[in-house]
Amino acid sequence: MFLVTGATGNVGRQVVELLLDAGARVRALSRRPETAGLPDGVEVVAGDLQRPESAGSALEGVQGLFLFPAPGGLDGFLRAAKKAGAERVVLLSASAVGSEEAGPLGRAHAECERAVRASELPWTVLRPGAFMVNDLRWAPAVRGDGVVRAPFGRAVTSPIDERDIAAVATRALLDDAHTGATLELSGPQALTPVERVRILGEVLGRELRFEEQSPEQARAEWTKHAPAEIVDGSLSLYASLVDAESPVLDTVERVTGRPPTRYAQWAARHAADFV
Ligand SMILES: NC(=O)c1ccc[n+]([C@@H]2O[C@H](COP(=O)([O-])OP(=O)(O)OC[C@H]3O[C@@H](n4cnc5c(N)ncnc54)[C@H](OP(=O)(O)O)[C@@H]3O)[C@@H](O)[C@H]2O)c1
Repeated sequence: MFLVTGATGNVGRQVVELLLDAGARVRALSRRPETAGLPDGVEVVAGDLQRPESAGSALEGVQGLFLFPAPGGLDGFLRAAKKAGAERVVLLSASAVGSEEAGPLGRAHAECERAVRASELPWTVLRPGAFMVNDLRWAPAVRGDGVVRAPFGRAVTSPIDERDIAAVATRALLDDAHTGATLELSGPQALTPVERVRILGEVLGRELRFEEQSPEQARAEWTKHAPAEIVDGSLSLYASLVDAESPVLDTVERVTGRPPTRYAQWAARHAADFV
């Protein structure tokens, strides 16, 4: 039995699917199990990682654990997992772990990694960079006037498909070759927002235009959906990436045996989300 936390999220949902495809039994933890919308065959249980006492029975009989990085209660949750006989934990972390620019986000990931390393459970840490799925935030603009407004049009990242992160997580859960490894993950291309908008337009067959926002404009918009200190961390991280080199890593291919998804392939798979 595998317990997937963050199972209703971008990465966790894909981990659930891939574990089911591999024939594994899957339990999913959610703070709102009634709206989880997970596939048949998944046992959905209520629990909150920040309140480890709420997750007791979720850990029964669990052999492997996919851990969403919710800081604040992981030490207790991992102690309970060890006591329940868990044999392996795979943590979703971030390449920005501990980075000064990322501020509180970087510190939160550092805290989660520390908890996992201190847990006495065999662990694997995944450190992806920017997710391709972040670009779904452009969908309303694409559906509307076709003008995508975002800050730092020349910030370079190597965005990764959420499914590729999940594929690496699934391998690390099913096979102990990655125990004790901290896996830095990227997609296959270094791209700026300007280039991503161009590729998206080509895939959708739409004329899209990129319009650069000032950091202040972006801040005003993003703080409607996320805490100000997280937004500030993201903005200073993107500012530091303008005209930077962004590494393209072979980890996804090394672990899964197939190359990571290119941005155009990701966009084609998500085309319906943009129309
Ligand atoms: N976006 C990026 O570019 C990027 C890059 C690198 C790393 N990351 C990291 O990746 C993580 C986001 O992953 P994602 O996009 O897959 O997540 P997501 O789509 O934002 O979903 C969050 C999930 O976590 C669950 N969750 C949140 N707090 C919880 C808690 N206290 N207890 C139990 N479950 C909890 C939620 O489930 P319920 O609501 O069902 O409980 C939800 O399924 C963040 O930590 C982020 O820093 C993101």
